[in-house]
Amino acid sequence: MKILVVGSGGREHALVWKLHKSPLVKKIYAAPGNAGISKLAECVEIPSEDLTGLANFAEKNSVDLTVVGPELPLTLGIVDEFQKRNLRIFGPTKSAAMIEGSKVFAKEFMKKYHIPTASFKIFERPDEAIDFVKSSDMPLVIKADGLAAGKGAVIINDVNSGVSAIQKIMVEKIFKDAGDKVVIEDFLEGEEVTILAFTDGKTILPMPSSQDHKKIYDGDKGPNTGGMGAYAPTTIVDDRMMKRIYEQILEPTIVGLEQEGRIFKGILYAGLMLTERGPKVMEFNCRFGDPETQVVLPLLKSDLTEIFMSIAEGELSLEEVEWTDDFAVCVILASAGYPDKYEKGKEVFGLDKIEQGEDVLIFHAGTKKEGGKLVTSGGRVLGVTAVDKNVEDAIHKAYASVEKVRFEGAQFRRDIGYGVRRTKREYF
Ligand code: AMP
Ligand code: GLY
Repeated sequence: MKILVVGSGGREHALVWKLHKSPLVKKIYAAPGNAGISKLAECVEIPSEDLTGLANFAEKNSVDLTVVGPELPLTLGIVDEFQKRNLRIFGPTKSAAMIEGSKVFAKEFMKKYHIPTASFKIFERPDEAIDFVKSSDMPLVIKADGLAAGKGAVIINDVNSGVSAIQKIMVEKIFKDAGDKVVIEDFLEGEEVTILAFTDGKTILPMPSSQDHKKIYDGDKGPNTGGMGAYAPTTIVDDRMMKRIYEQILEPTIVGLEQEGRIFKGILYAGLMLTERGPKVMEFNCRFGDPETQVVLPLLKSDLTEIFMSIAEGELSLEEVEWTDDFAVCVILASAGYPDKYEKGKEVFGLDKIEQGEDVLIFHAGTKKEGGKLVTSGGRVLGVTAVDKNVEDAIHKAYASVEKVRFEGAQFRRDIGYGVRRTKREYF
């Protein structure tokens, strides 16, 4: 089989790494890929939003299956475009991807199908949004409707910051038309977890739960990033909690989408807050998470290619998906300045000193080859994943490798995986 993987981050490197293990796979293309991916796949210079270019490529090169990493091509309708041309692809259609593409849609959908989420109001006019903020109790969360590269949610603790956020989103249009509408919702307190699930639109198979560390600094301080590390599984999602998440969130979501004729075959990402009143949805994504994928896929025993093929054909079955009992942790190394403006073109040293294998994996994100050297080319540069039977050993092993990597200005968190040591609470 020939597979095309769309995207260029650590998530896509983890996907390529896992797909490459399958005896079914003869060749992998990545569009556009990165320096790490290029060791396992042929990278082709097609941007991930160029739907026609990607479909032309798949057609011309007789690609058997296309796997899409990032949200943008999915919300633009890459699945619809490929299906129109009879090309096999793995992912939700444009109308199903709206669950991530529009927060207004997602919130109204959750209300309609009684899926637990924070109480909310939707605004199309900034003056009305501001009046609402002035008359509400704090804290609140203000979210731009459309895609905003993970920066569209602002937590506010006072009226002034609320007014300023509404101005920026709805008047100055910092996220362009993604800010035509906003959702204003209650702030949820609790523990944040990610649940990824394979689904063919009928059968839903949750993956091990994971936790992303979104803030740039240790102790969850500083601005939000795309994710500075992750670990899986979490201790707080036990079997009972997973059953509850399945029954109250995953199942009604997939059933509701089907009832509306929105075909969701792919990965459903539920970003949840486990509150004292049970799990509540903060966001849905229509794809694998990054860095969560870098810790979840190393725990998968089964053949990912077979799973994707079954989903694309609508015949996913429980027996197909098996997981190890291991624990995985991933530490992200980022460029100086990230998540704001960051430096690029710094040479990366030390990867050859790391003994890579099944238990220590380096996934590239923002890297490229320049004149035979490996240099940084993005905000998040590399993810170091370690796998072990024991939590402490996995964390120790990941950091022992992280310490060997060098590039000017490299920053990483030193507390990834700490959440696993928190005492388990009962959530009702
Ligand atoms: P979102 O883009 O909706 O996932 O929001 C980004 C981040 O903002 C989440 O990962 C949470 O850390 C935080 N967040 C979003 N919504 C809420 C909420 N209702 N209550 C508390 N924190 C939230
Ligand atoms: N780790 C957050 C995301 O993938 O959206």
